[in-house]
Amino acid sequence: MSARSLDGGGSDPACGVSVADAIAFTVNGKPVSVTAPPLRRLADALRDDLGLTGTKVGCNAGDCGACTVLLDGAQVCSCMVPLAQAAGRSVETVEGLARNGRLNRLQRAFLRHGAAQCGACTPGMLVAATELLRASPRPSGAEVMDGLGGVLCRCTGYRKIVAAVLDAAGDAPQPLGTPPSGAAVGARLAKLDGVPKLTGAERYGADAVPADALWLRIVRSPHDSARVVIGSLEESATDWPGMERVLTANDVPSNRVGIYPDLRDQPVLAEGVVRYRGDPVVALVGTREAVVAMRDDDLPIRYEPLPAVHGAGEAGTPNAPLVHVDMADNRLIEGGVERGDAEVALDGCTVRAEGRFETTFVEHAYIEPEAGWARRVGDRVELFVSTQTPVMDRDMTAEVLGLVPAQVRIVPSACGGGFGGKLDVSVQPLAALAAWLTGKPVACVYERPESMMASPKRHPATIEARLGCDGDGALQAVVFDATFDTGAYASWGPTVAGRVPVHATGPYAVPAVSARGRAFYTNGPPAGAFRGFGVPQAAIAHEALMDDLAAGLGMDRLEIRLKNALRAGDVTATGQVLEASAGLAPCLEALEPRWHRALEEAAQANVEDGPLRRGVGIGCMWYGIGNTALSNPSAMRITLDREGRLTLYNGAVDIGQGSTTILAQICADALGVAVDRIAQIVGDTDWTKDAGKTSASRQTFVSGKAAERAGAALRAAILREANAAADASIELAGGCVVVRDGERRVEIDLARLKADERGVVLEGAGTFDPPTTPLDAKGQGSPYATYAFGAQIAVVDVDTELGTVTPVRIHAAHDVGRAINPTQVEGQIEGGIAQGIGLALMEEYLPGRTENLHDYLIPTIGDVPEIEVIIVEDEEPQGPFGAKGVGEPGLVPTAPAILGAIRHATGVRVTKVPALPHRLRAALRELEARP
Ligand code: FES
Ligand code: FES
Repeated sequence: MSARSLDGGGSDPACGVSVADAIAFTVNGKPVSVTAPPLRRLADALRDDLGLTGTKVGCNAGDCGACTVLLDGAQVCSCMVPLAQAAGRSVETVEGLARNGRLNRLQRAFLRHGAAQCGACTPGMLVAATELLRASPRPSGAEVMDGLGGVLCRCTGYRKIVAAVLDAAGDAPQPLGTPPSGAAVGARLAKLDGVPKLTGAERYGADAVPADALWLRIVRSPHDSARVVIGSLEESATDWPGMERVLTANDVPSNRVGIYPDLRDQPVLAEGVVRYRGDPVVALVGTREAVVAMRDDDLPIRYEPLPAVHGAGEAGTPNAPLVHVDMADNRLIEGGVERGDAEVALDGCTVRAEGRFETTFVEHAYIEPEAGWARRVGDRVELFVSTQTPVMDRDMTAEVLGLVPAQVRIVPSACGGGFGGKLDVSVQPLAALAAWLTGKPVACVYERPESMMASPKRHPATIEARLGCDGDGALQAVVFDATFDTGAYASWGPTVAGRVPVHATGPYAVPAVSARGRAFYTNGPPAGAFRGFGVPQAAIAHEALMDDLAAGLGMDRLEIRLKNALRAGDVTATGQVLEASAGLAPCLEALEPRWHRALEEAAQANVEDGPLRRGVGIGCMWYGIGNTALSNPSAMRITLDREGRLTLYNGAVDIGQGSTTILAQICADALGVAVDRIAQIVGDTDWTKDAGKTSASRQTFVSGKAAERAGAALRAAILREANAAADASIELAGGCVVVRDGERRVEIDLARLKADERGVVLEGAGTFDPPTTPLDAKGQGSPYATYAFGAQIAVVDVDTELGTVTPVRIHAAHDVGRAINPTQVEGQIEGGIAQGIGLALMEEYLPGRTENLHDYLIPTIGDVPEIEVIIVEDEEPQGPFGAKGVGEPGLVPTAPAILGAIRHATGVRVTKVPALPHRLRAALRELEARP
């Protein structure tokens, strides 16, 4: 890996020549002048020299469009524009859109439609849409997709962005509104944290770095497996101007990180060996210019390549090299679920289906790469960082530095997408250590290739499965065997290997089940948490085999799913009785008319011969909400102060999915006040209680219940003060609370109540730990308190000559228990579907080959078709106002539905995803060649 060259920030350290010029232009109508080298990126000049950090940098390579600005009215990627090209010209950024603090029409439409989730792409989208609407005030949907085609979004699935632009261009855009007291749950409330994402004011991990911060750059292994020898760094590195320190493993008090306390297998910095391409070796700390300019090749680091293990299959062979010498057979973990005698039951089945399915490494590709900065404050260290899990970060950072957790404070920045990838620590330990050792603030911002090289991936899986049913199509047995490549380190591998066998049957009632899951270490990138924790891979297998069974019986594919759908009262493969809220059947029933219409349309489309064939597929899912068979608590607190201000101390990090809004909606209704009366402190570990990780679709269900209880507790405290009945109303009126209890009106003067040192007079606290039980040796128990269910229909066109697949339409029906905010529920489902399209058709991470967003393709605005979301509300009695979760479910059935549609169109059963054109073409040729 060599250092970047298109920068310099005032000088070229390699030749020591200053090449800075004063370059004048206008930004948002105001004249500015930047003294910098002519080749400085315009994006860097805007962000670093002018402080306009609304313009985001997602790749620095012209691939993501996050940095889009208007140059003389035309959109450009500002990361690819040399500053000199802006001389004398007009630049417009997101900061110029709002006027006098008021959002413009387009921004308001984005807010109303939920078109900004994490918000990292939003400035680029808004700017691109601005150009479009100037040129074409009434654009068609196709024109919108064209005009915004250069900007990638990883969260939304684009549909709400298109709708927002069309709405902004319409005659009478709908107004924004706030629901009244008691009506927040179920309302399409705009994101409470949405405005800063639309104005460019939001602060992500790289946006608030102090001017005097040192920078840290990690030098990473270019080899999959090697012995590494580090020479004297004193002479070659620290003599370099601007370099302050070079950290090695010897500088790290406790040099291991990992998710599980008994599996801290990942060195912070290499200890003599590297195990994957991207393994951290040393960390350079100095001025930004110095750490960027230092070439890796100029450091005295020698690698002696060792034999590498690729793929779980190879890792499990008897003589495979060991990735970790203390892990025999490279086996990380193995587990399973056994219920009845599946082999015997399978033998007795009328129809059987079997198959072997493969998936590959998939990259999260959030638009905001890992970023943050740390500072030492006395005997504490504080981190402002993009994360999904502040308390785990705090504890892990403290452990690495040899401190106690109370000595570390995590202040989450806005998070520009996570999807599981920001559940592992990235910049945290080393930035904190460098700040601790130097006493200066230290920032670390990953470049896109570094983010892709170093961040955990979706586990590649090889799944062999057999399903059997009786003559009526009732499932009798499932035998399922999944092998996962967990890469060089454990990360969340045990979680995936444990969750998958539980979900191996799919959302169906099956009396006899044998499901195994295991994970092997390899010299691939660490595989960790990624939206679904292995369930999307499992769904590809069980849904393909459900189609096989239907074919074997001559039964309709939707019908066989409906027949076997888990319902309330049914028993799962782990022996858990589903007490309530098992809504797959209503999802399928809602889809049924669309299914038959789509099949008829496809039949008509395929009457004509030709290379283009239309297909319709269906996929179903279930997903256990929260941790598997583990305690999974969340705690929330809401306070009322003397001035009548409500503050929700909310430890749940919002990574774009909307928990900041959802939890306020729940808490407001539980308390009985309008949601806009509640201010929040989110995620700061000094101020909030542990709400657990933002993962496993758990925040609405788990933290939502805690927020509901906190709101109810404060309500009870207020009603006690007024001696009022439970159904009394509460109204905040400045320094007093008015309680109306029938005819009685009581005014509580808050100034007369005893206050703590911060003026808090009353408070409510709530906790919730979903009731689960551990799984026994046969995987029997109740691993989750509740499950989400869903089903999707995909309509695709397959070009049988090119091997390309074009999604035409997706219908998605999901049982979410209760939709706290339907707009956000739709947004999660649509975003999940976009990632499911990527999983099915496009995305394959290959170390050394697809480490950027040019070679690694994620769905663009043109790749996501029309989506119809049908929300099914089969209320969960344990959930807040009946809600469950929807973060992951939207993704799970998409790939199976698309693969089913490909098969319907062509007869080819795809067994390896992504179904890239060359794979599909080969399968089509093979099918043609069959006798
Ligand atoms: S940051 Fe400029 S295109 Fe990605
Ligand atoms: S909202 Fe588009 S990348 Fe997150």
